[in-house]
Amino acid sequence: MITIYMKDYIKVDQWKIIEEGFDPGYNTIAESIFSLGNGRMGQRANFEEAYSGQTLSGNYVAGVYYPDKTRVGWWKNGYPEYFAKVINAANWIGIDILIGNEQLDLAKCEVSAFKRELNMKEGYLKRTFRAKTANDKEVEVEAIRFCSIADDETGAIGYTITPLNFSGTITMIPFINGDVVNKDSNYDEKFWDEVKKGIWEDGAWVQLRTKKTGFEVATGMRIAMEQNGQPIALKAQPVEKDKFVALKAEIDAVQGQPVVIYKYAANLSSQNYAAAELEDNLKATLLHISEKGFKTMLAEQAAAWAKKWQHNDIIIEGDASAQQGIRFNIFQLNQTYTGEDDRLNIGPKGFTGEKYGGSTYWDTEAYCVPFYLATADPKVTRNLLLYRYKQLDKAIDNAKLLGFKDGAALYPMVTMDGAECHNEWEITFEEIHRNGAIAYAIYNYVRYTGDEQYLADYGLEVLIAIARFWSQRVNWSDDKQQYVMLGVTGPNEYENNVNNNWYTSTIATWCLQYTIGVAEKVKTTEKGKYEALVNKIRFDKEKETAKFQDIIEKMYYPYDEKHQVFLQQDGYLDKEQILVKDLPASERPINQKWSWDRILRSCYIKQADVLQGLYFFEDQYDLDTIRRNYDFYEPRTVHESSLSPCVHAIIAARLGDQARAYEFYLRTSRLDLDDYNNDTEDGCHITSMAGTWMSVVEGFGGMRVRDGKLSFQPFLPAKWQSFSFHVGFRGALLNIKVSKDCVQIKNLSGNEVSVVVYGKDQLIKANNELLVEG
Ligand code: BGC
Repeated sequence: MITIYMKDYIKVDQWKIIEEGFDPGYNTIAESIFSLGNGRMGQRANFEEAYSGQTLSGNYVAGVYYPDKTRVGWWKNGYPEYFAKVINAANWIGIDILIGNEQLDLAKCEVSAFKRELNMKEGYLKRTFRAKTANDKEVEVEAIRFCSIADDETGAIGYTITPLNFSGTITMIPFINGDVVNKDSNYDEKFWDEVKKGIWEDGAWVQLRTKKTGFEVATGMRIAMEQNGQPIALKAQPVEKDKFVALKAEIDAVQGQPVVIYKYAANLSSQNYAAAELEDNLKATLLHISEKGFKTMLAEQAAAWAKKWQHNDIIIEGDASAQQGIRFNIFQLNQTYTGEDDRLNIGPKGFTGEKYGGSTYWDTEAYCVPFYLATADPKVTRNLLLYRYKQLDKAIDNAKLLGFKDGAALYPMVTMDGAECHNEWEITFEEIHRNGAIAYAIYNYVRYTGDEQYLADYGLEVLIAIARFWSQRVNWSDDKQQYVMLGVTGPNEYENNVNNNWYTSTIATWCLQYTIGVAEKVKTTEKGKYEALVNKIRFDKEKETAKFQDIIEKMYYPYDEKHQVFLQQDGYLDKEQILVKDLPASERPINQKWSWDRILRSCYIKQADVLQGLYFFEDQYDLDTIRRNYDFYEPRTVHESSLSPCVHAIIAARLGDQARAYEFYLRTSRLDLDDYNNDTEDGCHITSMAGTWMSVVEGFGGMRVRDGKLSFQPFLPAKWQSFSFHVGFRGALLNIKVSKDCVQIKNLSGNEVSVVVYGKDQLIKANNELLVEG
C-alpha cells in the first residue's frame, strides 16, 4: 500500500522537515521521520491527543531493556535464551482532549491545514491543524514539543487549542500512561509492573519496574495553563488506573481565545539513581523545569542545538533537497547518541522504532565511529569503545559457550548488556567479522585522536582477547598447507556458512597484526601497565604472538586469477553470474520477492563485503586492485542493506567516478525522508545516516587520516555550487569548503594545523585559512 505514496511527500526546506496536509496512510512513516530524542530518551512523533487511526506508539528510555524470551523453530546449543530489547516506556506526551463530550481524534474529525514540522536548527517538533468534530465544532491546535538536550531527563509540550466557532467546555486530560506494549513482543507480554504512583495538585507520576531486569523508571508531569494569554489556576480532578495517572481539567473555553497547556515531563531511571530516591529526584526535576518555564527551556534547547551545529553542520549550496537530507541525518544521529554515558550505544533505529530492539550492532564501530570522531569531543567515541571494554567478560563467556578458551572473546552480533541476543545460527555463530570491526574502531580512534594511552589502559586487553579468538577460529588445512576460516557469514548476509570469506579472513589477520604491534608498543611505553595486564590475562607474548604471526603468514585468501579479484568466498564463481542490471525490476528487492533458498544460491550481494575490506584497508591496495574489485562486485550488489551505498560512494569517489559516487550518496541521504526502501514506518535507519555523512566527508571531501594528519582530496558534485563541513581534529576545529574552483580550509582554533590537500603538505596557522585551487 505504501508504495503508492509520492516519494516527495516531505516538503523541501533547508532547516526543517515539513509535512503538509494530513495523510493517515503516511502517519506511521511520518511518526518515524519526525521522531525526537536527546540521547537519554526519545520518542516517535505520535500525537498528543487520542488517535484511533494507524499509529505505532513509541517512547523509549536509553539503556532500559527487557530480555524477551527467544522464539526459534529449532533450538541450537549456544543460542541465547533471551533477546534484550529497548522497550516501550511510559507515554508522557498524552493529552486527551474533549470538546463538549466529543473526543478530539484526527481519525474521526474533518482535518484541515495540517502541518508537521521538525525544526532541526532548534530541536523541536511543531504540529498545527484545524479539526471539525462530528458536531461541527471546530478548533485550531498548535502543539510544540521537544526532548531537552540541556536537561536530558526532561521534555516539554506546549499545546494550544483555540475554539474557532463555539464557546463551551473543553476538557484537557494530560496523562502518564505506563500500561504500554511492544509491537514486537514475543509472547504478547507486558514488560512493566507498577511500583508506585501519585497525583498532586498540578502534577502526577508513575514509577514502573521492568519484569526480569528490574530497571525502575519514574515518569512524571507537571502542568501549567494559560487562557487568552494569562495564566489560569489549574483546577483538575485526579484520575488513576493501573500504571496510569491523569489530571482532568475542564475549561470554559471562549470562541477565539487560545487555551494553552504546558506539560513538563521527566523520566528518571534507576540506572542513575537509587530506586528509593527516584520519587524525590523526579519531583525536584519537574519543579526545576517548570519553574524555568517552557519558553526558557525552548531557548536553551535552541542554544544547545546551535552549539552542536557549529561543530557538525554540513552546508550544501545549490541543492536544497540534498541540504535537507544531510542535515536530517546529522540531526537524527545527534538525537540518538550524545556520548555522555558509556553504558549506552546506538541502535540501528535509534529512538524511532522497535526494529532491531535498540541493541548494539557492528554498525556502531564500522559506520558511526568516523562520524562521532570528527564531529564530537573525542570522549564520545571513547565512551563507545569503553562500552565494549566493559562487556569484554561477557564476550569471553560468549566465546566459551561456543567452545573457545583461554580468554578468547567473541563479541555478540546484537547486544544490550554484552550478552548475545541474536538467534539465527548463521549470524550468531558465523557472522564473526563483527569482532574485527571492534578492533578496527580502536585503531580508528587512536589513529584519529592520537590517544595512545587508551591502548595501555583498555585497548590492548580487548585486542588480545579478539586475537585469541581468531587464532582459535582458524584451522590448519593439510590439503592447502594454509590456515583456513570455515563456516562463516560475511557482511553479505545473502551467503551463509561459506568457507574462507575474504573479508573475514582479511580482518582477522589484520587484527592479529595490529595486536602484535600494539602489544609491542605498550610493552615499551607502559611497562607497568603492560605487566599488570599480562598477569591479569595470562598473556604469553612470545608463544601467542608467534602463533598469531604464523597465521598471518600462512593464511589462505581466495583469489580469482581470471578476473584478478579477491574472491568473496570459496566457490563464489560457481554461482550463476547474472548482473543486477539484468534482473527485472519486478524481482527486486530480492529479499521481499525471492525465497531464502533462491537468494542463497544466487550471486547477489546484499552489501559491501570484499569492498568493505578495501574501504577499511585501502592504503594496502593499489588503485588498480581497488578498481578491478569494485568493477567486479558492485554490479552484483543489490544494496539491500542501508549500510551498503555509503561504502560504494566512498570507493567510487576514490576511483574518480564522481557521478556514481553522487548516485550512491543520493540513495543514503534521503533514504528515510523519501522512504526509498518502503520501511521507514519501522523507524529510521540511524546507523546508516552516519554512512551518509561519510559519503560526503570521506567520499566528496576525500578526507583520510594518515600519519597523524588529515588529508583531503575533494571534488564538487556537479549539481552543487559548494559544500562545506566541520571536523574536529586533535584539538583543532576546521571548516572545509569545496567550491567550483577552490578548496578553502579555515582553521578555527588557536593552534596551527598541518593538513595534506591533493597530496601536498600545508600548514594552516591558528585562526587562519588556506586556499587551494581545485
Ligand atoms: C545488515 C547488518 C547490520 C544490521 C543492522 C542488517 O540488514 O546486513 O550488516 O548490522 O542490518 O543495521
